[in-house]
Amino acid sequence: MALLHTTFLPLFLYICLLNWSAWAKVEVTTDESVEAYLGDSAQIPCQYSFTDADNEPRFVMIQWFVRVAGRSSRLRIFYGDDSQQMVDNNTDYSGRIEVTSDQQGTRLSIQDVQLFDEREFFCQINGLAAGNAEGKTHLRVFAPPEAPVIEGVSTGISVTNEVPSKIASCEARNGFPKPNITWYRNSMPLMSAPGHVNVLILVTRESSSFYSVQSTLEYKLVREDKDAHFSCEVSFFVPGAIRTVESNSINISVHYPTTMVELWKESPQGLVKEGDTVELRCQGDGNPPQPFIFNREQELDIDLESNHGDVLMLSPVSRRDSDIYQCRPLDNDGYTEVKGEMQLTVHYLDPAVVVPKDSEVMLKGEDLTATCNALSSLKTSTVWYKDGKQVGKGNTLHLMDATYETTGEYICEVTVPSLPALHTSGSVHIIVQGGPQLVGVEQEVQLEEATGRMVNLSCEAQGHPLPSISWNIIGSQNWHEVESKANEHMTHSVVSVKVTSDISALCNASNDMGTEVKAFSVKAIPRVTSAAPFSPAEGSGMIIVVIILCLLLLAILGSVLYFLHKKGKIPCGRSGKQEISTKEKTTKDDIVVEMKTTTKNEDSVLLKAVNGDQKSPNDQV
Ligand SMILES: *[C@@H]1O[C@H](CO)[C@@H](O)[C@H](O)[C@H]1NC(C)=O
Ligand SMILES: *[C@@H]1O[C@H](CO)[C@@H](O)[C@H](O)[C@H]1NC(C)=O
Ligand SMILES: *[C@@H]1O[C@H](CO)[C@@H](O)[C@H](O)[C@H]1NC(C)=O
Ligand SMILES: *[C@@H]1O[C@H](CO)[C@@H](O)[C@H](O)[C@H]1NC(C)=O
Ligand SMILES: *[C@@H]1O[C@H](CO)[C@@H](O)[C@H](O)[C@H]1NC(C)=O
Repeated sequence: MALLHTTFLPLFLYICLLNWSAWAKVEVTTDESVEAYLGDSAQIPCQYSFTDADNEPRFVMIQWFVRVAGRSSRLRIFYGDDSQQMVDNNTDYSGRIEVTSDQQGTRLSIQDVQLFDEREFFCQINGLAAGNAEGKTHLRVFAPPEAPVIEGVSTGISVTNEVPSKIASCEARNGFPKPNITWYRNSMPLMSAPGHVNVLILVTRESSSFYSVQSTLEYKLVREDKDAHFSCEVSFFVPGAIRTVESNSINISVHYPTTMVELWKESPQGLVKEGDTVELRCQGDGNPPQPFIFNREQELDIDLESNHGDVLMLSPVSRRDSDIYQCRPLDNDGYTEVKGEMQLTVHYLDPAVVVPKDSEVMLKGEDLTATCNALSSLKTSTVWYKDGKQVGKGNTLHLMDATYETTGEYICEVTVPSLPALHTSGSVHIIVQGGPQLVGVEQEVQLEEATGRMVNLSCEAQGHPLPSISWNIIGSQNWHEVESKANEHMTHSVVSVKVTSDISALCNASNDMGTEVKAFSVKAIPRVTSAAPFSPAEGSGMIIVVIILCLLLLAILGSVLYFLHKKGKIPCGRSGKQEISTKEKTTKDDIVVEMKTTTKNEDSVLLKAVNGDQKSPNDQV
């Protein structure tokens, strides 16, 4: 029965209405709704016509009504007929409306539209005998809200929260009708999703009848959201459209646990050596950054003191600091153990150890191998120097068949090619011991000197220990040592002997290791002419020079004799002599040729080579 009733009631009403309009002679047409902004004016048209155009009524009455909330009957706001047009007193519309009418219709103009004008307006046309009719229009009022204001949660939010946490709120105030708020993450709209995204909406009806909407976004953050931008957008109706306004975008301080830690050496660059200051830095991927605990693998139970929780300074380092170092977040949220690790190797070079140590005595002719070793963590290179010159490479030095020249200080320099700052050196002093060794001992020194002159004999001996020189001179009582010098390696003695007769002299150099003797013989030449100066000759080298000069002079003599022979015919003999005389006046150290002749015998010429300035040019013939 109830079903029948609900099914047939609309049909019944429809049929009645059809009948009623068939009888009525006036028809009213209105818009279903009219839209207007708050404060603007709104026009509500109402068209009417009479079905029987031939029988148009003389009298037409127009009335406008509104529906008022809380009242059963409608409130009239306007009345008009042929004789009068009247806006009702004491309504919301008194003084705010105007009605214009013509044959076809009437039009209600509302000034300064208010929010409460959002209601239904009725236009009623009454033609008395021609019947009456009315039309209805809903006036819709729009007020755009203020721009949305977004506010993020400023404290960090952890991704470990199990339910969505409030991360931001957004408010759009004073709009009409009620605006909507939509959330965006990186410009993509966020849809409510249980367990991930909740949107809580609070709508407030202000006393001014505006709507304010506040939306709170609850969101389950993930690590990637640290870089995400969130914004909200308000959407609202305006006449004939929907408009949107977006808020600023904000980012959220996302807290997430450390899942990875890295430890590295910040300084120094490259290899580390003892004495360096080493800075190790630890960094994790958690937010906010956490302080770390530093350990070394050999002493895991000891926490090392760090700077600002992320830097470990080791200064100065030694080889004992070589180890694997670790860093771990101080508060690890109970997550799986994460740590950073690195191997620190501190390189070193110990002082060089040279064998033999300090100094070593070796015998002449002996061999010796010296070694130089410096312990290092890296490959080293060793070079040996003596008197600033390189004498060897590698950590062993072979000294073969030692001579007195072998004597000296040997320095080994040890360097580390891969870490040039590491270097050291050591040294050994080699002393070659042996009997005296005289200079020019191979040959007896033979000299000739004029009787009565002094002759210098020189003797130089090497050896270790330093030899002493003694002289044994037979043939002259008149001699004395004029020079005696000694340095580390050499003894040098010069004796000045007066030639009285043939002399044989022995220079005897001796030390603990032996004796060596060098012989000199001086042949005394009887003085023939007066004041012929005799000079000493030293060493065998001088004799060779004398012999060579003798040969040269024989050639010159030949030409002199030729001129002398021709003296009578060609007057040029004196000039030849002068030539020799001129030549003889040369500077000191030049070799001077002295020619001595007996008065008439041209064959008895004595040639002498002397070293030094001869002050007797008159002795020339
Ligand atoms: C409205 O008030 C005015 C003046 O106060 C008066 O003249 C007029 O008759 C009133 N109209 C109605 C319909 O009461
Ligand atoms: C607001 O949201 C409701 C429900 O989704 C929708 O019907 C309405 O059209 C929206 N209004 C605006 C202004 O977007
Ligand atoms: C937000 O982003 C700006 C620039 O992109 C950045 O400087 C700021 O630190 C971020 N704030 C938060 C809480 O992540
Ligand atoms: C011998 O040597 C001494 C010292 O060197 C020197 O003074 C002297 O002149 C020399 N004598 C001769 C004849 O060369
Ligand atoms: C040389 O001197 C040493 C020591 O004074 C002595 O033993 C030796 O017999 C001497 N030799 C000669 C040839 O005079």
